[in-house]
Amino acid sequence: MEFEIVTGSVESLETDCLIVGVAPEGELAPSAQQIDAAASGYLKEVIGDLQGKAGEALLLHKVPGISATRVLLMGLGKADERNDRNQLKIIKSALSNLKAIRCKSAVIALDGLESSDDDLYRQLRHNTEWASAELYQYDATKSKKADPLSLESIGFLLSQDNAELGEFSISDGSAIANGVDTARELGNLPGNVCTPNYLAEQAIALAEECDELTTTILEEDEMDKLGMHSLLSVGKGSSEPSKLIVMEYQGAAADVKPHVLVGKGITFDTGGISLKPGGKMDEMKFDMCGAASVMGTMEALTELGLDLNVVAIIAAAENMPAGNASKPGDIVTTMSGQTVEILNTDAEGRLVLCDALTYAERFEPETVVDVATLTGACIVALGHHATGLLTNDDDLAADLLVSSEFAADKAWRLPLWDEYQEQLDSNFADIANIGGPAAGTVTAACFLSRFTKKYRWAHLDIAGVAWNSNGKAKGATGRCVPLLCQHLISQVDESPEE
Ligand code: BES
Ligand code: MN
Ligand code: ZN
Repeated sequence: MEFEIVTGSVESLETDCLIVGVAPEGELAPSAQQIDAAASGYLKEVIGDLQGKAGEALLLHKVPGISATRVLLMGLGKADERNDRNQLKIIKSALSNLKAIRCKSAVIALDGLESSDDDLYRQLRHNTEWASAELYQYDATKSKKADPLSLESIGFLLSQDNAELGEFSISDGSAIANGVDTARELGNLPGNVCTPNYLAEQAIALAEECDELTTTILEEDEMDKLGMHSLLSVGKGSSEPSKLIVMEYQGAAADVKPHVLVGKGITFDTGGISLKPGGKMDEMKFDMCGAASVMGTMEALTELGLDLNVVAIIAAAENMPAGNASKPGDIVTTMSGQTVEILNTDAEGRLVLCDALTYAERFEPETVVDVATLTGACIVALGHHATGLLTNDDDLAADLLVSSEFAADKAWRLPLWDEYQEQLDSNFADIANIGGPAAGTVTAACFLSRFTKKYRWAHLDIAGVAWNSNGKAKGATGRCVPLLCQHLISQVDESPEE
């Protein structure tokens, strides 16, 4: 499936389906008006069936006077409700209609939505990302493969003046969409396929396709030498060896400090000896979605071709109960030298991340952002809409919130005040790995903060947003690839011109 920019007069476009907008009260968007004129008022005649609510659709065949085979009238919603949420509804509805009629080509002319040239880039990028996401189908582990897509191209109709900006936007949008697809696919694969070793192989395969990218895998013996006993303690009960996956993207001079992304890659989280209850435990195959979003972002980055250096560090392990697994009360020494009392083996994400975060120091990073399905408490606090953002760096917080807003990939800041730190006090080690029932997302981030003193750092808890649990929508979402991509894109914009 290709996205393209289309210019020219709307009535002479050769396409299987032309999508034009209608606002409430039958008000036609400019392209729809042109079609209506070419069709001698036919649209106005039939439009009574449509209220113009966002995403409401009416398919018309044999519209006279135009070259397109079909016209899909698309409700745009009220002018003062043209927000990201409605835009997503519109794209979802457009794509579900296009899939239903099994057409090969479509052109979207949602010109009624363009408020200014300023946000054309943003809007078209979202349209590209969201249309692409509607076409994702998971069939890797089904014997009956999904029907191949009939859609070969989706065009966006723009004026000649906007074409260049449009090309730029759909190119970035496709790159991000591919990253989202990768993250979803990795997330959806079952725990017996997507093991730490599988993640490592995928990271190696990605580097083989891109000259700027190098992947290094640290095996258990190397991690042992580095003193990563906290990370290694998590995989002890598993027959799958743990891996530290390091992906280095060099898009700038070697001496430019990199931005580092760290991902939690627990390929299955049983809870370990602090075993989780059985209900919905299958969903703990998604506990590597932080790693998946970091890998998806690295893939997008190779396509975006940003002039930056970026390092991805993925801490991959499987958390299983076994005779040799960690037990509550066990104490391990982290790579930083700090000791940790493992009061609950189900708080394993922070145990793998802390050593990955210490490892990040060697890259002398500009910023470090870690991404993890870290706490059920984050779902209690923020539900399934926003990623939890925790950092003591107000500038980095502000930057990430701006990126989140631009990427339409919601994040919300939670506090990381020192007052919470004492919840991690232990009588037997430097730190306990749990901080009690209060503010679980905050104390998890407090734990991580003990390992991030040497650089600018932020933590993203994606526990509530990384996957959908319900029915047909059950599956990985690919969040927060758009946010991470925008975070990197904005770093290029900010770096001084040479
Ligand atoms: N992977 C889970 C967090 C999680 C749970 C994400 C449910 C999404 C849905 C994490 O490893 C975990 O088990 N955290 C514990 C921490 C607790 C023991 C302090 C939790 O949230 O219950
Ligand atoms: Mn856990
Ligand atoms: Zn976990």
